[in-house]
Amino acid sequence: MYRTHSNGELRLTNVGQEVTLAGWVQKTRDKGFMIWVDLRDRYGITQLIFDEERTPKDIVEKAKTLGREFVIQVKGEVIERVSKNDNIATGEVEILVKELAILNESLTPPFTIEDETDGGDELRMKYRYLDIRRNPVKESLIFRHKVAIEVRKYLSDKEFIEVETPVLIKSTPEGARDFVVPSRMNEGQFYALPQSPQTFKQLLMVGGMDKYFQIVKCFRDEDLRADRQPEFTQIDCEMAFVEQEDILNTFEGLTRHLLKEVNGVEIADFPRMTYDVAMKKYGNDKPDIRFGMEFGELNEVAQHKEFGVFNNAELVVGIAVPGGASYTRKEIDKLIDWVKRPQVGALGMVYVKCNEDGSFKSSVDKFYDQEDLAKWAETTGAKPGDLICVLSGVADKVRAQLSALRMELAERLGLRDPKVFAPLWVVDFPLLEWDEDTERYHAMHHPFTSPKPEDMAMLDTDPGKVRANAYDLVLNGNEIGGGSIRIHDKETQALMFDHLGFTPEEAKEQFGFLMNAFEYGAPPHGGLAFGLDRLVAILGGQETIRDFIAFPKNNSGRDVMIDAPSNIDDEQLKELNLKLSL
Ligand code: AMO
Repeated sequence: MYRTHSNGELRLTNVGQEVTLAGWVQKTRDKGFMIWVDLRDRYGITQLIFDEERTPKDIVEKAKTLGREFVIQVKGEVIERVSKNDNIATGEVEILVKELAILNESLTPPFTIEDETDGGDELRMKYRYLDIRRNPVKESLIFRHKVAIEVRKYLSDKEFIEVETPVLIKSTPEGARDFVVPSRMNEGQFYALPQSPQTFKQLLMVGGMDKYFQIVKCFRDEDLRADRQPEFTQIDCEMAFVEQEDILNTFEGLTRHLLKEVNGVEIADFPRMTYDVAMKKYGNDKPDIRFGMEFGELNEVAQHKEFGVFNNAELVVGIAVPGGASYTRKEIDKLIDWVKRPQVGALGMVYVKCNEDGSFKSSVDKFYDQEDLAKWAETTGAKPGDLICVLSGVADKVRAQLSALRMELAERLGLRDPKVFAPLWVVDFPLLEWDEDTERYHAMHHPFTSPKPEDMAMLDTDPGKVRANAYDLVLNGNEIGGGSIRIHDKETQALMFDHLGFTPEEAKEQFGFLMNAFEYGAPPHGGLAFGLDRLVAILGGQETIRDFIAFPKNNSGRDVMIDAPSNIDDEQLKELNLKLSL
């Protein structure tokens, strides 16, 4: 038996027992007559003591050769510690070592394997197996496991069946680029890795599975961000014979279950907000509603004065920054510079200080009197002591810019507490989205999403206004899930493809299998997918998904540990009938 106990297990009640432990050397302290070693495994740390008087001499000598991260096995007696350590669970005891086996030596690790490490990101990624030995990464992976288990429990209890769908498939139109895999047996042809199992889960509904889920890898060749990886995991779900309401209720239930079981948090409100309201109030389809700072549209009260910039703008909109009236000129100038950065793109910012005495001081006092500014304060909900920040321009752009400012200020003001959770549904998304580059409409969610029946008539006259039976689940300003009620009849699906610019031949070539399936009694159905990595990160109080993924890719999509992607040899290329033209 390699070990009788783990390194997180022993307590005062074990004193006097002979035990065998194994693990990694976290650190050693050699006082000459006495050597202490912290022995670590997944479960914790146990202190070992090698004592010249009580430990055999050759064992003490061997202990002196131990280096960091050596793998060892010891036998010894559990004794009570003289000076106890409250910081670790095993801190009241130590092991008086009698036997020591060095199971494996280790090179000196390239960074310290402690909670706070001196290793930079790239180095930690290169030696990810060492990084995983560190508590924060280890805990994040264990946390992910707990979330996944709770997901399976909840859905299984609700009669969802986990079904695996293929990974070598044909392109799915989720909007990103596909990763492709050449087929050796079918010369010149390629599989695509799924961007999601979307079409398969719909086919499972046609197959009568009724309630499906799958914790599944998805692949999208898109630019990376803190909340995006080229391969990521979805909790993919689909239900038959449901309306939107059933889906929202089921997955509101899952979200509540996870928050309760994983975070010990009971959520009171789980609001629903239409896309239009979210855009108007927060300039964003994934609003963080843990704090206020809602948008106040100022066109009515700020236009038709002498200020040309506002008069010429499609939208004049502001937010009240709590306590912002105390900002110095320099601080406000910095804020103005911040909104003018290319990443935000505002041309400038007008501000109003709402003084404690009820008076106002603005950067546009030349054009607006106190009465005007009082209306601005009323519209933005600003109180004495606040700062009103106002942007203007083309509506869509200004909303995005002010939303960026809102989030930035909330972050600086500490209003984005990771321990507070505010989920909501954003519903009634537009069906179509105009794409400037291709100059045509794209499906905002995906082409299988059903339009709202009452909006169908607008498909020909005003396609951009048609709303979809589509919804997103938002948690703390992050989109953690999205889905829709699907089209389940061939005619509507053909109509959609037509509006998306597919010829009937192209639609048949790409989606003939789905259209055919719809001819064999497809039930009404709908579903959604959560981004598991994002969900886990946010429940874990973070917004970067990387540390919740065992072996993530870096910002250029590379795995620097195994060095992928990499070249393949000529023989392999030949076999695949591929030629590289560089
Ligand atoms: P969607 O494209 O909205 O929907 O994806 C669902 C959720 O997956 C997460 N996500 C990602 N997470 C990490 N890295 C990425 N690159 C990434 N891309 C997406 C997000 C997102 O909300 N088939 C539909 C679902 C449906 O209609 O049922 C789909 O894939 O959290």
